[in-house]
Amino acid sequence: MKKIKLAVIPGDGIGREVVPASLKVLDRIAGLHGGLKFEYEHFDYGCDYYLKHGDMMAEDGMERLGQSDSVFLGAVGDASKVPDHISLWGLLLKIRREFQLEINVRPAKVFGGIKSPLANPEDFDIMVVRENSEGEYSSVGGRMFQGDDEIAIQNNVFSKRATKQAMEHAFELAKSRSGHVTSATKSNGIFHSMPFWDEVFRETAAGHQRIETTSTHIDALAASFVTHPERYDVVVASNLFGDILTDVGAAIMGSIGIAPSANLNLNGKHPSMFEPVHGSAPDIVGKGIANPIGQLWTAKMLLDHHGEEEMGSLLLDTMESVTADGFLTPDVGGCHTMDEVVQQILSRLQ
Ligand code: NAI
Ligand code: MG
Repeated sequence: MKKIKLAVIPGDGIGREVVPASLKVLDRIAGLHGGLKFEYEHFDYGCDYYLKHGDMMAEDGMERLGQSDSVFLGAVGDASKVPDHISLWGLLLKIRREFQLEINVRPAKVFGGIKSPLANPEDFDIMVVRENSEGEYSSVGGRMFQGDDEIAIQNNVFSKRATKQAMEHAFELAKSRSGHVTSATKSNGIFHSMPFWDEVFRETAAGHQRIETTSTHIDALAASFVTHPERYDVVVASNLFGDILTDVGAAIMGSIGIAPSANLNLNGKHPSMFEPVHGSAPDIVGKGIANPIGQLWTAKMLLDHHGEEEMGSLLLDTMESVTADGFLTPDVGGCHTMDEVVQQILSRLQ
């Protein structure tokens, strides 16, 4: 029997609704598989924990999470209780940094039954690989002078190691897909870091002769995600460019409530973390109408990560058959509750 040990953090808001629902589905998948078992350790870290204990997680929290095979997270944040910068830095970003989750992978595809805001979308299926640890999101720089003379300097940090690592991951991914990698660049405007990015991209491409490549400037690429998303397969991007592109990706899919993400640790020293793109959605919490697809698609990525691609595909196909048959929550134009959607998925996974 293969066991996968999951550290489960529902977190705040609708995280506490979509995570328990997803565990039911994971258990059903394990039952169908026969040789697979999930072992859950539940952590009540989040804003309520902060109000009780003065911290977003226990002192030995990272150590305990580190004993799992993967972290399965809902959403963090409840500004009515704890300021967002404290809750996010104390839990989500802490895990991303300390577990060296240096790559963020986010798919964007036409999802059966869910209406894209694009008028006539062709069948697109994109995987964005975002460098998740450095680039434009660095704390190197500073401010000096005051008043009208004030200046701010923000340095970008691009290491060959992290850049190459993100690109290698993109090329490996492309091998199991249609075999094309697009690099998001801006070497016509950014003088040092982006020509370096292009050089590392060419060097990485040379090691993968069978994969086709394109380099596209980020402004044109973002526009093209809207006009011709079907042209893209795997896209590799720096931290900032990837952040923006993946939001465009979630938007053209039709709802933030369906978008998943995987934060990957690649040195094997820590678990990876799987979380939907959406937040805790305080405006709909407790109403039973949270879209469970984002969290469930995240679970599919977790299955893939642990070598259970067949079960991952089964889960994705089942979800798409349910949404295609009109079992939709209000955020995607439906009138069904989260429980009704989940129940449909469970009953089709027999
Ligand atoms: P949000 O993603 O929570 O909500 C944005 C809008 O999308 C809301 O109208 C919400 O109802 C809707 N929505 C989101 N997920 C949905 C779902 N599964 N089903 C149906 N509708 C859904 O972003 P917002 O409002 O900016 O942030 C709320 C809180 O979440 C804040 O405290 C923020 O810091 C936190 N947050 C946490 C994230 C994380 O844990 N990764 C990511 C984004 C925000
Ligand atoms: Mg973003």
